[in-house]
Amino acid sequence: MKEKVEKDSRVAANGKKKRPPVTIRQMEIDDLPEVFHLGEELFTADRVPNLYRTWDPYEVVSFYLSDSDYCFVAETNDQIVGFALGTTISKPRSAWKYAHLVWLGVRDDLRRSHVAERLLEHFKETVVEEGARILFVDSEADNETALAFFKKMGFGNPKEHIYLSLNLKEKRKKPRSDVNLSKKRPVAPPATSPPG
Ligand SMILES: CC(C)(COP(=O)(O)OP(=O)(O)OC[C@H]1O[C@@H](n2cnc3c(N)ncnc32)[C@H](O)[C@@H]1OP(=O)(O)O)[C@@H](O)C(=O)NCCC(=O)NCCS
Repeated sequence: MKEKVEKDSRVAANGKKKRPPVTIRQMEIDDLPEVFHLGEELFTADRVPNLYRTWDPYEVVSFYLSDSDYCFVAETNDQIVGFALGTTISKPRSAWKYAHLVWLGVRDDLRRSHVAERLLEHFKETVVEEGARILFVDSEADNETALAFFKKMGFGNPKEHIYLSLNLKEKRKKPRSDVNLSKKRPVAPPATSPPG
């Protein structure tokens, strides 16, 4: 029996993957639910167990409210298939402006179609126009896909960051020895009318 070979419609005759007709545009208020749900598929707690950032509706809304100029979506056939959410940082006493691309994600079935590359390029152009001199990204150390992508996009000089933890449960059980709870705080004298 002849084997039926299904052609991947995204592969061109020369064997290279075709670039899907994706539009990159600024994220709008109506996009928030779709971006949030796409992110839910990509940034699950086990895949991105980050302590200082979690993917939740507040995260998307707060980027939209504070940094909508730096939030982009990739859209094809009226569907959002990727997003880039970032910000810029200016530090006191530093003439340099930094950009931070915080969240970047592309729907599974459109991976390796250069959607993320186009989102990143768009983000980069925008922050450069705004005067940013350095662009930061971060990723879990074992997120090989993201690291391969960022490396390919020219990022380098990786710096490690280590999280430490202390279990505070035991501490909560014991009353603090330096605080005498039975002692009443001295009561402030009743307010008097200002002198003069
Ligand atoms: C990382 C991510 C955004 C990349 O998106 P993408 O659209 O598939 O990436 P691109 O197609 O633009 O990749 C461009 C190049 O990066 C490199 N690259 C991307 N994914 C890669 C992978 N899985 N393995 C090796 N190299 C990879 C390749 O060189 C690729 O070019 P090529 O396909 O012509 O070889 C996507 O995998 C993703 O959404 N991951 C989950 C979320 C995440 O981890 N985000 C990053 C941290 S916020």
